[in-house]
Amino acid sequence: MKISEMVDHNTKIVGIIGHPIKHSFSPMMHNLTFQNQKLNFIYLPFDVPTSHLNEALKCMRVLGIKGFNVTLPHKEKIIQYMDHVSEEASTVGAVNTVVNEGNQLFGYNTDINGIVETLNPYLDRITKSTVSVIGAGGAARSVIYALIRNFKVEKINLINRTLERSDSIKDYFKAKMHFDEISNYELMAKENVEIFQSSNLIINTTSIGMLPNVDDTPTDFDAAFNNSQIVFDLVYNPIKTKFLKLAENKGATVLDGLKMFVVQGAKSFELWTGEIMNVESIYNELKTKLSQAAE
Ligand SMILES: NC(=O)c1ccc[n+]([C@@H]2O[C@H](COP(=O)([O-])OP(=O)(O)OC[C@H]3O[C@@H](n4cnc5c(N)ncnc54)[C@H](OP(=O)(O)O)[C@@H]3O)[C@@H](O)[C@H]2O)c1
Repeated sequence: MKISEMVDHNTKIVGIIGHPIKHSFSPMMHNLTFQNQKLNFIYLPFDVPTSHLNEALKCMRVLGIKGFNVTLPHKEKIIQYMDHVSEEASTVGAVNTVVNEGNQLFGYNTDINGIVETLNPYLDRITKSTVSVIGAGGAARSVIYALIRNFKVEKINLINRTLERSDSIKDYFKAKMHFDEISNYELMAKENVEIFQSSNLIINTTSIGMLPNVDDTPTDFDAAFNNSQIVFDLVYNPIKTKFLKLAENKGATVLDGLKMFVVQGAKSFELWTGEIMNVESIYNELKTKLSQAAE
């Protein structure tokens, strides 16, 4: 259907704010679903640098934007501008979905749904285990929250380029969730090989390896991996990152970021429209597109 046949004065606008924004597949996922499910909505990308975040949110209210996703680097900073924040998003300290209800902005975190649904099939292998989390941004916060709440993990190794940031997450979860078993380490340190080796689950929550930087990886020591591990990369473009390829070569169970991406999007979609997204069909459609793009 042409855009001139889709958009009229009743069309509700949703979107995504981040900086940069051009890497995001969210506009494609949501617009395809609106079209497939015949909903009078349109999803737009808004490239907003941090210096303009507050002003952009004022505009969202004035323009009656129905809701939006939040991506890097705003997930943590945006909380201060919300009128209401869900209990989960408040505990995590990161918002990825906003609903504008009568000019009041409600903040939610649907990344948690995506993480839990991706890891749930491996519940027995993850519960009470040792996990290494690479990265200390908004996505890492959601991962750590889910690991503590849903999987009752025993120990978390937090590995990040900037130690101050991982220090502050460590203190944050000690205070918020009374979880003391977080140790933090610098990215690319040689001793990380042993830390990874002793982990049952390793999760990359950084953007390292994301298109176009497909030759980058948060660790290039393939001795880090073994066949009893689960290795999860939140990056979904490309579907199989260099990090996952290294782990797969060593026999690890590998999980890409696409399921998480579709599940978090479906939950946001539900919050804006009250409708259920056909997750399986959109997952298959995106997987085909991403696989074709990688060829
Ligand atoms: N699959 C999904 O549904 C899904 C959902 C959410 C997020 N994600 C992905 O997760 C990633 C992180 O998102 P976020 O919201 O957490 O971003 P963020 O808050 O900006 O945090 C980015 C993290 O990546 C690290 N990092 C970035 N570039 C790096 C580099 N070149 N070398 C070393 N470390 C680097 C940062 O380290 P410093 O602290 O040192 O800067 C930080 O830990 C993105 O790729 C995003 O697309 C995927």
